[in-house]
Amino acid sequence: MAASTQFNAGTVRSPFRLQSVSKKSPKPTRISCSAATPAKRYSITLLPGDGIGPEVISIAKNVLKVAGSLEGIEFLFQEMPMGGAALDLTGVPLPDETLSTAKSSDAVLLGAIGGYKWDKNEKHLKPETGLLKLREGLKVFANLRPATVLQQLVDSSTLKKEVAEGVDLMVVRELTGGIYFGKPRGFSTNENGVEIAYNTEVYAAYEIDRIARVAFETARKRHGKLCSVDKANVLEASMFWRKRVTEIATEYPDVELSHMYVDNAAMQLVRNPKQFDTIVTNNIFGDILSDEASMITGSIGMLPSASLGESGPGLFEPIHGSAPDIAGQDKANPLATVLSAAMLLKYGLGEENAAKRIENAVLDALNRGFRTGDIYSPGNKLVGCKEMGEEVLKSVSSQVPSAVLN
Ligand SMILES: NC(=O)c1ccc[n+]([C@@H]2O[C@H](COP(=O)([O-])OP(=O)(O)OC[C@H]3O[C@@H](n4cnc5c(N)ncnc54)[C@H](O)[C@@H]3O)[C@@H](O)[C@H]2O)c1
Repeated sequence: MAASTQFNAGTVRSPFRLQSVSKKSPKPTRISCSAATPAKRYSITLLPGDGIGPEVISIAKNVLKVAGSLEGIEFLFQEMPMGGAALDLTGVPLPDETLSTAKSSDAVLLGAIGGYKWDKNEKHLKPETGLLKLREGLKVFANLRPATVLQQLVDSSTLKKEVAEGVDLMVVRELTGGIYFGKPRGFSTNENGVEIAYNTEVYAAYEIDRIARVAFETARKRHGKLCSVDKANVLEASMFWRKRVTEIATEYPDVELSHMYVDNAAMQLVRNPKQFDTIVTNNIFGDILSDEASMITGSIGMLPSASLGESGPGLFEPIHGSAPDIAGQDKANPLATVLSAAMLLKYGLGEENAAKRIENAVLDALNRGFRTGDIYSPGNKLVGCKEMGEEVLKSVSSQVPSAVLN
């Protein structure tokens, strides 16, 4: 297989987080595995959420079951309400029970939240508030977002083939600090009686140090290059960011560190994205740059993410939203969520072999020409969300169980 057709998110069974394996999971759905006697059991909290979330989560769950069974892994799934679905059911976007179930599981797989119905809700009753609280509650401060241009999808990129081909980068975004959480924040009136609104970009040294270490570890396991993105020519918080990242770099002499201003990084990502290996940046810059990077790959429907803390379960989710414009129409691309399940196995549980099975199955389904609308190009077979899921499932099911290989 050519290098450009492989996923290379690095092989981070994180040295920067602990993994607990046996925890209680209330009212689990027991999944029986036929290919091998399960030697390992993990509890997974599923949060389908809103819009296309339930469509893509049900596919990822089935793929996880089969890939796991081939590696002798049993999953105990617990599905909980989150986002708009939780608002309708319980009146809040993140019920306590959902958070406690998530916290006590081994990993959390989220679909997406949000939709027109709740857009006008007060801030504390918006689905998005539930998502921020979930990330905060799980203390997942490091968000890993790979953007890989697959050879099979190079024509789906909006960039010229020669620019997009071979792109394989990882954005490491700080997720629980910065301007999205900083205080003071709010609406007010200034001394001249003029209405104002304000937010605060604030980072403590430990917050920068820990995300920098995750990024250096990640870069070390990829191609050894880390670019830290900031706005140190203007913002004090960015000057501090650069100082701390430079200090942490002394612990990683084998990783080549560079710094770039965010405006230049936004430009370089479309000019020459292949120059990047691993990027580390703050919450807001990471939010924007990782969405930009996603478009290089062709579709937001292809991109997974992993959010990790120092201990406890990780949160795995596609980077796209609930896509209300196509929800319920069997048009969603489920591959971002399926690949998030692969990240869950690799980064959350350290089950690299099972993760590889899922990645290979996705490549196999693409090699056989199956495409959802967002990645379709003439000459391929246009399929809906369900059929794409079935094709990936066929690919996983056709793999030989590890018990037979060993
Ligand atoms: N993590 C999350 O749950 C998350 C992230 C972003 C947005 N949102 C929420 O989602 C809702 C819609 O937001 P948006 O429209 O800005 O972003 P979006 O990602 O939902 O959709 C953007 C565009 O991409 C398409 N798209 C997204 N995922 C796709 C997939 N898997 N397959 C095919 N096409 C796909 C959509 O149809 C739409 O045209 C809002 O309520 C927003 O707050 C949630």
